[in-house]
Amino acid sequence: MDTYEAISTKLDVRVFATKHVDGRLKAKVLESARLTASSMNSQHWRFILVQEPKSLATLAQDSTSGTWVKGSDFAVIVSIDPKIPGSTIDAGRVVQDMQLAAWEEGVASGVFTGIRSQALRKDFGIPEDLNPVIVAGFGYPKRKLLGRKNRKPLSEIAFLERFGAELSFSLK
Ligand SMILES: Cc1cc2nc3c(=O)[nH]c(=O)nc-3n(C[C@H](O)[C@H](O)[C@H](O)COP(=O)(O)O)c2cc1C
Repeated sequence: MDTYEAISTKLDVRVFATKHVDGRLKAKVLESARLTASSMNSQHWRFILVQEPKSLATLAQDSTSGTWVKGSDFAVIVSIDPKIPGSTIDAGRVVQDMQLAAWEEGVASGVFTGIRSQALRKDFGIPEDLNPVIVAGFGYPKRKLLGRKNRKPLSEIAFLERFGAELSFSLK
């Protein structure tokens, strides 16, 4: 699978099979996070790998929009330093890299940002100077993915030289 194929076929998944992801692939996901670029190369982020079923259930309780994480095989909590300019952009990039690295090997994932911060901090020992901003849950998909994405056409969202000006070329 090349990078474009990974991007174009990856869907966010919230229902996972019971088959476990091996340690090598979990390490690859975290290495992908480590290798991601960050604002001023500050590498301000910290990652917590959560894989015990009890801890995944706690993570679900600490969420307002990601209770599905309870059924994932493992999850990664991404915490960032809010004092770094662009730190939330860094969080988005690092999550996407982890998701694509996993998907290249057939492991699907979803993310959530609805976090009960105080509860999550307490339950996972996150220091006050870091903000847990996004969580990714990973696992083999339970169902075969149809690979269809609900996206706006390029002509609606991309322009040539000036906002609103039509693009005259496409992939086809
Ligand atoms: C910044 C961001 C925040 C998101 N927050 C949540 C969330 O809180 N809960 C959730 O289930 N999905 C969340 N998602 C997943 C999106 O709903 C999903 O990526 C989008 O619907 C497209 O899915 P698709 O690629 O499968 O078409 C989030 C995605 C992004 C990029």
